[in-house]
Amino acid sequence: MSKTALITGASSGIGAVYARRLAARGYNLILVARRAEKLSALAAELEQSDGIAVRSLAADLTAEAGIASIEQVLRDEAIALLVNNAGMGPFATTANMSDADAAATLTLNVTTLMRLTRAVLPGMRARKSGTVVNIGSVMGFFPSPMSALYSATKAFVLTFSRGLAEEAAENGVLVQAVLPAGTVTDFYETAGISIDNFDASVFMTAEQLVDAGLAGMDRGEQVTLPSVHDEDLWASYDAARAKLFAGTQNGQPAPRYV
Ligand SMILES: NC(=O)c1ccc[n+]([C@@H]2O[C@H](COP(=O)([O-])OP(=O)(O)OC[C@H]3O[C@@H](n4cnc5c(N)ncnc54)[C@H](OP(=O)(O)O)[C@@H]3O)[C@@H](O)[C@H]2O)c1
Repeated sequence: MSKTALITGASSGIGAVYARRLAARGYNLILVARRAEKLSALAAELEQSDGIAVRSLAADLTAEAGIASIEQVLRDEAIALLVNNAGMGPFATTANMSDADAAATLTLNVTTLMRLTRAVLPGMRARKSGTVVNIGSVMGFFPSPMSALYSATKAFVLTFSRGLAEEAAENGVLVQAVLPAGTVTDFYETAGISIDNFDASVFMTAEQLVDAGLAGMDRGEQVTLPSVHDEDLWASYDAARAKLFAGTQNGQPAPRYV
């Protein structure tokens, strides 16, 4: 029997490519985003090209009703793969960002990702199989002006995914954080800045990004950095993180503070 994958933010960019690639792998799909017409067009295309079943669910994942409706699907159905991809990052200083944009960014990138993950996990744990792919960002470890809030939400995605990966592994469930760097999508126009303002040489295509993400998933990776060529960079960064934590575990203030 075919497995089912649910992808948020499937109406464009990285999510739409995940839909295409997972369709080619034989998954039935549930596509989620606000733009119903884009989802329907993609669904029709993939049903035709790959002979799979596709359901489109139009939902605003910053609104309680939208989040709750997708949580229900994730609880009721045997979802084999959840791709938490929907995300936004308005290009503005935190002080200048509208209240609505700030709230939506936090809800979509953090609360919704957490809620959908919590909704799908019990079933996966009971079935002792399943995969949750959380799309983070390299900005999650590189806070910078104009992206302070976005970077913080993506830091959440990485930290949450890593802890969850350890919790879920004992039940045969893989939690993978995929951390894109620059990827050519509508993300920047939606964020309020033309992609032309950035150095084109640091961008890959959404197809390259998703293919690397899926290759990482096939390798069972808990953290995938598609654009990092030197694997030692992550290994040494992670080792420094563990060393720093170990350095906090001594119960005494450091001499410079006493
Ligand atoms: N592009 C990059 O350089 C880059 C780098 C690092 C990380 N990322 C991450 O990659 C993920 C995908 O982004 P992308 O680059 O593919 O950008 P994108 O083309 O703008 O796609 C964003 C997707 O999220 C959906 N979405 C946005 N707000 C939503 C809402 N309120 N409710 C439901 N769906 C919503 C959009 O669909 P609707 O508008 O139809 O709702 C769209 O399908 C994001 O999490 C982003 O942070 C991107």
